[in-house]
Amino acid sequence: MKRVVILISGRGSNMEALIRAQEAGELPVTIQAVISNQGAAAGLATARAHGIEAVALPHRDFATREAFDAALAQKIDEFSPDLVALAGFLRVLTADFVRRYEGRLINIHPSLLPAFTGLHTHERALEAGAKLHGATVHFVTPELDHGPIIIQAAVPVLADDTPETLGARVLEQEHVIYPRAVRWFAANQLQVRDGIVKVELPGAEQLVVAA
Ligand code: GRF
Repeated sequence: MKRVVILISGRGSNMEALIRAQEAGELPVTIQAVISNQGAAAGLATARAHGIEAVALPHRDFATREAFDAALAQKIDEFSPDLVALAGFLRVLTADFVRRYEGRLINIHPSLLPAFTGLHTHERALEAGAKLHGATVHFVTPELDHGPIIIQAAVPVLADDTPETLGARVLEQEHVIYPRAVRWFAANQLQVRDGIVKVELPGAEQLVVAA
C-alpha cells in the first residue's frame, strides 16, 4: 500500500476528495498526514475529522524560502511517503525541494496546462475568450506548473460565466481527476519518458485520460 502525504494551504476540497475516495475503497493508499503552511487552513480540521494526522507548519515562522522548504521536507520525511500530493498548496517550492521528491510529487492546477500557469486562471480564461477550460494533474518539476501531464478534464466556458461559476465547474472535475491520478500512481500505471506520461490502462479505459 503506497503511503501518501497531502500538502494544503486552505479549504482542502481536493484533499477531501482524496480522503473520501480512500475511505470508499477506491484508492489503495494510506493517507499518512496532511500538512499546511497556513495554521488557519480549514482543511486541517477536515483531515482531523477523518482521523488523519494534520500538521500546521506556518511558512511565516521561517526566515527564508530555503529554511521553510528544508523544515517541510523534514516533516514530510517523518511519514516516509511514496507520494506527496499538492492540493491547493499555494507556495512556490525551491528546486532542491522539487528534486528531492522527483517522480513522487504531483499537483493539481485549475487550467488546461500549458495554458494559464500561475494564479487567477478562471479570470484569465474568460479574458482570453477560451471556449474550453479545465484542470490538470501533473508531476511537479522545478518550473512552475510545467511538469509532465497525468490527466486533464475539460469543461465548456459558457457565455454568462463569471470566474466563480467557471471555477465551480472546474472544481467539480478536479475532484474526479485527482483521485483517479493517485489511483494510477498507486497501481504503478504511470510511466514518464522524456517528459511525457504514459498511462498504462487496459484497452478502452484509455479514454478516461481526458475525463
Ligand atoms: C484548486 O482549484 C486547485 O486546483 C488549486 O487551488 C485550489 C484549491 O482548492 N491549486 P481546495 O483547497 O482543494 O479546495
